[in-house]
Amino acid sequence: MALEKEPYKGVRDFYPKDMAIQNYIFEIMRDTAEAYGYEEYSASILEPSELYKAKSGDELINQQTYTFTDRGGRDVTLRPEMTPTVARMIAKKRKEFSFPLRWFSIPNFFRYERPQKGRLREFWQLNVDIFGVEKIDADIEIINIAYDIMRNFGVTEDKFEIRINDRSLVDAKLKEMGLDEDQSTKMKSLIDKKDKMDNFDQMTEALAGKPFSFELDPSDKINTAIKSLNERGISNVVFAPNLMRGFDYYTGIVFEIFDKSGDNNRALFGGGRYDNLLEIFDEEKVPAVGFGMGDVTMRDVLETYNLIPEFTSSTDISICVVDDESIVGAQKLASTLRDQGLNIIVDSSLKKIGDQIKKASKNKIRYVICVGSDEISKDIYKLKDLSSGEEKEVAENQIADSILG
Ligand code: HAM
Repeated sequence: MALEKEPYKGVRDFYPKDMAIQNYIFEIMRDTAEAYGYEEYSASILEPSELYKAKSGDELINQQTYTFTDRGGRDVTLRPEMTPTVARMIAKKRKEFSFPLRWFSIPNFFRYERPQKGRLREFWQLNVDIFGVEKIDADIEIINIAYDIMRNFGVTEDKFEIRINDRSLVDAKLKEMGLDEDQSTKMKSLIDKKDKMDNFDQMTEALAGKPFSFELDPSDKINTAIKSLNERGISNVVFAPNLMRGFDYYTGIVFEIFDKSGDNNRALFGGGRYDNLLEIFDEEKVPAVGFGMGDVTMRDVLETYNLIPEFTSSTDISICVVDDESIVGAQKLASTLRDQGLNIIVDSSLKKIGDQIKKASKNKIRYVICVGSDEISKDIYKLKDLSSGEEKEVAENQIADSILG
């Protein structure tokens, strides 16, 4: 039987055009995080499974992880998120660091989910987190970065919405209603899914042992955050009392960002404050707040608003070779130009020159030079700009200058 050509369910192959888009998305993520002074870190995709057991939340652990036993009998998980990993890294060197730390990373994750629009089994996620700041300034900075990322992709404020809530407010309210910790965790998970459920009232009543009604007013923290984001010119922030976020580690402000077009129903960003996560490593608390933002949902949004820039090749010049005798000369020219910092393809197919030029144009390469023995012996080359159609005669040592300006 012939082998399957499709990739594994829910993961993607990145052909060069997809890779160009992916690189563009990563570039905006990276540039925006660095604009706020965040430093990049990374880690392995493999983690011991117990890292997630303490605080990631039931759904993620029991239904969504790729977990296996390695040859040494250890339980290993392909990371489904970065927060426990970064908490582990901070916990390990906590005493060496001087806080605050501003860190970012663009890792890939695996989650065993039903593949659908905006949800795959492998995806990449920008993580931006700040450690060591208790004050709400950190939450505001984090939300501001998320906002700037959307703007830097060209998505205007009217097209998206930042929803925020306060986990501490919810926890206090549920406690006041007499729910224990286990019931409270389950209740938050139901509230989180309220809009997608048709039996919310029955489910919550069964859990609480009495009819459940849940009214929240915005906390001071929420009012402060919204006010100061407004002062920074960010006016698309709304209080969302049903927003819980699926992870058990959040302790304060939580937020998500949604596209308003109606085409993309999944959250684009999700994050919040998690001040107690380091306790799972028996370490002292380090206040922390951050978010994750996925590549899949972002690409969908860029497609919705037609914001993906046109693909350009990273190759500067395609050298078209006229005949067999000129191949060596063309290769030498290419190597001189590469030394000067240009990216060069030598088309040694010996196809018709017109076809070689067409191929370069199809591959979005901006310049071509056709090389035959005449050009080499006289040191005069015709440099053609395929974007404008202009052609000019240049000597070898003028080519780089004409292109790089
Ligand atoms: P999360 O809400 O699970 O949060 O994911 C954040 C974002 O990652 C989502 O809004 C979405 O863009 C993307 N994402 C999640 N699952 C998938 C999937 N299956 N396919 C494609 N994209 C997906 C977290 O992971 C938290 N650890 C974020 C965080 C960082 N909180 C504090 N710091």
